[in-house]
Amino acid sequence: MKVGFIGFGEVASTLARGLMGVDVEIYTCLEGRSVRTRELARLMNVQLCSSHREMAQNVDMILSAVTPSQAVMVARKLGRIRGVYVDLNNVSPSTVRTALELVGKANTVDAAIMGSVLKKGLKVNIVASGPAAAEFAQLNDYGMDIDVIGPDPGQASAIKMMRSAYTKGVSALLLESLFAAHRMGIDDEALKYISQTECPDFQEKAVSRMTSSLYHARRRSEEMEEVVKMLSSETEPFMSRASLEFFQLLTERIGKMDEKPSNMHQVFQKLDKKE
Ligand SMILES: NC(=O)c1ccc[n+]([C@@H]2O[C@H](COP(=O)([O-])OP(=O)(O)OC[C@H]3O[C@@H](n4cnc5c(N)ncnc54)[C@H](OP(=O)(O)O)[C@@H]3O)[C@@H](O)[C@H]2O)c1
Repeated sequence: MKVGFIGFGEVASTLARGLMGVDVEIYTCLEGRSVRTRELARLMNVQLCSSHREMAQNVDMILSAVTPSQAVMVARKLGRIRGVYVDLNNVSPSTVRTALELVGKANTVDAAIMGSVLKKGLKVNIVASGPAAAEFAQLNDYGMDIDVIGPDPGQASAIKMMRSAYTKGVSALLLESLFAAHRMGIDDEALKYISQTECPDFQEKAVSRMTSSLYHARRRSEEMEEVVKMLSSETEPFMSRASLEFFQLLTERIGKMDEKPSNMHQVFQKLDKKE
């Protein structure tokens, strides 16, 4: 099996590492990519193509794992292909349909990653829908965990968007309220008492949500734009709009971070410095 990745960041490099361990050949194209992406691909020794179109001629399946705002653009640049095309990006159903229509019809898959690839690796659960979802799920034979949930592009990303509205909304609330608690000198206590109303490992999860929200603020704001877009077609998304604005402000304030904070206190120190 030969798999090509468009984008070679956290998702692509993590899945690629797992797949290479079971003899899947991995391809990517580094034209125009950052030092970080080049370094990730170089360290893993993946096969390089001079363009994504050239890559499409060499592989059985292409997985798009770029930033959400680029999902349509990379599909447009690729154009129609014969192999299977899977969009793994956190985008709304309408965005994923637009992207998939640009590359084909019967050969496309809307796929949504349910969780953190860094934590789960190749075993991260992925929900898939669309005409070629069953072909994509053949990667389960190589250690992936893909659930096919339906035949239509947009079904998988709709589930992902609902989940994002919830998880990113909770992350924004935690960051906002516990930063205020930090200013008042009671952040550890506040987290402890919030945790008592939640599940046993809530404290650990809450810290992980806050550290990654700061580190991935730009991506979170792009994802929330997609959530608001989708929810707007069904309801008035007051809460999700507030989360979107929260992550946009966080992105403006923090900019690009070199390293992920390792605990809640580092998150607040960083925010203190930028006030
Ligand atoms: N990480 C997760 O656990 C997770 C979970 C669920 C869903 N997702 C979704 O999966 C996608 C990828 O996430 P990630 O964590 O891998 O992000 P990431 O680490 O930021 O990597 C994004 C990759 O896409 C590349 N890229 C950006 N624009 C591109 C373009 N126009 N053409 C080609 N490559 C481009 C980036 O290259 P440069 O370095 O040059 O910018 C980078 O290699 C996102 O849509 C995200 O929402 C991620």
